Amino acid sequence: MNRLEKDKVQFGIIGCGAIANIHAMAIKAIENAELKAVADVNIDNARKFAERHNIKEYYSDYRELLKDRDIDIVNICTPSGLREDVAIASARAGKHIIAEKPVEVTVEKIDRIIAECKRHNVALAGIFNYRYNKNYRIIYDTIQKGRFGRLILGDVYIKWYRDKEYYTSSGWRGTWKFDGGGALMNQSIHFIDLLQWYMGPVESVKAYTAQAVHRYIETEDLGIAIVKFKNGALGVIEGSTAIYPGLYDRVEIHGENGSVLIEDSRIVRWEFRDQEPLDQKIIEEKGLETFDLGSSRDPMEIPYELHKREIEDIINSLKEGKNPSIDGYEARKAVEIITAIYRAGETGEEVRL
Ligand SMILES: NC(=O)c1ccc[n+]([C@@H]2O[C@H](COP(=O)([O-])OP(=O)(O)OC[C@H]3O[C@@H](n4cnc5c(N)ncnc54)[C@H](O)[C@@H]3O)[C@@H](O)[C@H]2O)c1
Repeated sequence: MNRLEKDKVQFGIIGCGAIANIHAMAIKAIENAELKAVADVNIDNARKFAERHNIKEYYSDYRELLKDRDIDIVNICTPSGLREDVAIASARAGKHIIAEKPVEVTVEKIDRIIAECKRHNVALAGIFNYRYNKNYRIIYDTIQKGRFGRLILGDVYIKWYRDKEYYTSSGWRGTWKFDGGGALMNQSIHFIDLLQWYMGPVESVKAYTAQAVHRYIETEDLGIAIVKFKNGALGVIEGSTAIYPGLYDRVEIHGENGSVLIEDSRIVRWEFRDQEPLDQKIIEEKGLETFDLGSSRDPMEIPYELHKREIEDIINSLKEGKNPSIDGYEARKAVEIITAIYRAGETGEEVRL
């Protein structure tokens, strides 16, 4: 992979919608990073975005942005199912890529992007901002240290709500082609990624999916799955955008020697057979930091700090000539699980990964 040699790293954003604002604010907050240009098929979006963030160059055709030799990294913030062509063109132009979640809507599409990035020696990083919250990360570190012992059960419950306006304001949401699915692929993916990060690879899933409330979309607004992990542990996934008014998200990890529950990014149970000095602080302060991600009701209540941490991590990896920690293979895992859940829901069969 081409090592990033420059001190000041220059970025271009493709797709100037809601999440692109978070990327722009994150880049601005990073020392030695500059947002050089933006592109959006809708030139009004690109122009307004450029004005808001004080960027001189904006385009309606992302291929123009890719011609800019100063740009080292492109952040692809288009709708999920419209990333493959953009990513492949970016790789061919020699740009490193940061793709929003999910990298693309099928594993086949992601595999083609990974292959093209390899061919052109550029990195592919996938955004999973929740992993950069210290409360979620301490759970991962604690599993790696072995404090849980053998993992036996891992569950995620995402009882969120999105209103009709959310689905109808952008034509791509809730469609198979552009969103790749509904509540599971768009919203619950953050937690499905955390689950597999903690528990390890999934062996098989059984599932049901439903349109509980939002019957005008193509995809599910409620999905449940029973998961068997390769290490023998079991788990449950419940993800929805139909639970009025949007309640909470919860991750529950159980090992033979301990249990942790984290709700709305706050650690609400932290219990281990052995004791460690940091335990008391985690219990009293409900974790190591207080981030109200608040996305159970409002999709745009996202702090840019977590994107900033991930983008900084990506820059550091690229400067060392290393792959980003959430590379294409890592970001693909959640999509593989979710598409297996869809197949299981459709066929009524247990689907092996
Ligand atoms: N990490 C997170 O927490 C988070 C939160 C929200 C959205 N997202 C992801 O970000 C992506 C975008 O979501 P959004 O809510 O910002 O959508 P949005 O509809 O607000 O914005 C998408 C923008 O992309 C533009 N666009 C479409 N096709 C394009 C193309 N070929 N070239 C250039 N621009 C193009 C559209 O005109 C629009 O301005 C989705 O994949 C979504 O899953 C991630």
